[in-house]
Amino acid sequence: MPTPSISDIENAFIPAKEISDSAKFAGRESAIEDVFYALLAEGSNIAIVGNRGIGKTSLARQVVAIGSGDNSILEKVGVKHDQKLDFLTIYFACGNSIKSTDQLLETLLTSASCLGRWIYDIPQASKVMESYSPKFSAKILGVGGELGGVKANENTSSPALTNHSVDVVFSNVVGAIVEAGVAKNGILILIDEFDQIANPDGFASFIKALATNCPQVKFCIVGVAKDIQSLMREHESTDRLFAGSIVSLDPMNEKELQEIIDNAEASIQNHIAFDFGARKRIIGLAQGHPYMVHLIGKFALRESYKAQRYLISLEDINATLAGIAEKKVDPVLEGKYRRAVGSSSQRETVLKAMAGARDEANEIFTTNAYKAALDMGVDNASQYVGQLVTDEYGAEIEKIRERFYRFKDSLFHSYIMARPRMYRPGDA
Ligand SMILES: Nc1ncnc2c1ncn2[C@@H]1O[C@H](COP(=O)(O)OP(=O)(O)OP(=O)(O)O)[C@@H](O)[C@H]1O
Ligand SMILES: [Mg+2]
Repeated sequence: MPTPSISDIENAFIPAKEISDSAKFAGRESAIEDVFYALLAEGSNIAIVGNRGIGKTSLARQVVAIGSGDNSILEKVGVKHDQKLDFLTIYFACGNSIKSTDQLLETLLTSASCLGRWIYDIPQASKVMESYSPKFSAKILGVGGELGGVKANENTSSPALTNHSVDVVFSNVVGAIVEAGVAKNGILILIDEFDQIANPDGFASFIKALATNCPQVKFCIVGVAKDIQSLMREHESTDRLFAGSIVSLDPMNEKELQEIIDNAEASIQNHIAFDFGARKRIIGLAQGHPYMVHLIGKFALRESYKAQRYLISLEDINATLAGIAEKKVDPVLEGKYRRAVGSSSQRETVLKAMAGARDEANEIFTTNAYKAALDMGVDNASQYVGQLVTDEYGAEIEKIRERFYRFKDSLFHSYIMARPRMYRPGDA
């Protein structure tokens, strides 16, 4: 059996990156089927919503793959299919630089990794772009626009009467690209991290108008939200634009999480394995978040490889958890933890008690939580809960009604459950 390389070990789990390879994509059969049908449905856009770290971008990568004719994931999960789709696919992640719908459309049009390249390649599209917006066209084609207020060259002296509004430019340009017949099924534009757009006003009405003017363009929007209304932050007829094509990602079940570990082991030819206790612990802590499985799995595997041990046990996982916290491997989650706990052992106890008392509906009944806190030596838990809901301590917990609270971020909740304590109970 060949020994895996250090790089194989390091990449058996990938907490920092979505899954693109269909062979490593675990579970999610019904979501794959849903997105496949949504891709086939004429005039329907797609939305993928769910919690942080639940697997939205990974599913989105499969949407891109299926849309561009790669059916390997359909074969893997056994979804019947009878064609290879042929969309021109564009993937764009918003990050926090996109502030508005207009800015989003402008970026999609002008950046080379999005439509820019096609506008450059397709003469008709370049022409439309130049005539509708010398300003944008200069960004892509380098001609046709004002440079510092001075006409760049002869071409630009033709009266560039107006710079049309970006939505008009967008629909005309995509219309020209579709007309050029570069892809049989049209254009599929995937917008990830849509929730990061500061003000997405007008996006819903824009895609509604586009559906009429240019029906061969399909959007797939992806983001942290519980439903499409909260993702779009708009109520007006969003339902119909996404009719039947909203995929809400639930926490992964135990079988799916086991598959992530199986895939990782297989990728290193089972050179190192997780024993029953280790798997049970990881899956228990992950609470349906594939991210947590990758995070814990990766560091457990690394430690085991360095120590030349071939079977990872429950104790190894516990040691790994301490290391993850200490080294601030996930600075965001660790930062939230430290902010909530601050310098108070009692507040840490109450945070842990609240996390432990969460029920399946993600609700915390204070009677149960306060009793757990008391068992750990804190008798004034309500006072600390009063602090945990404030911004000073990160406001990770919120009150939902009298005597019931919830964690806003389920990924952070699972981190609290997994992370060893900072202070010993009873420390001042
Ligand atoms: N189906 C899957 N099989 C195996 N691993 C997965 C799967 N889906 C997600 N993961 C893993 O879980 C982690 C989070 O996945 P991903 O980035 O797709 O989630 P996300 O919902 O887009 O997260 P965020 O909210 O941070 O954008 C990554 O490590 C990814 O590799
Ligand atoms: Mg993502």
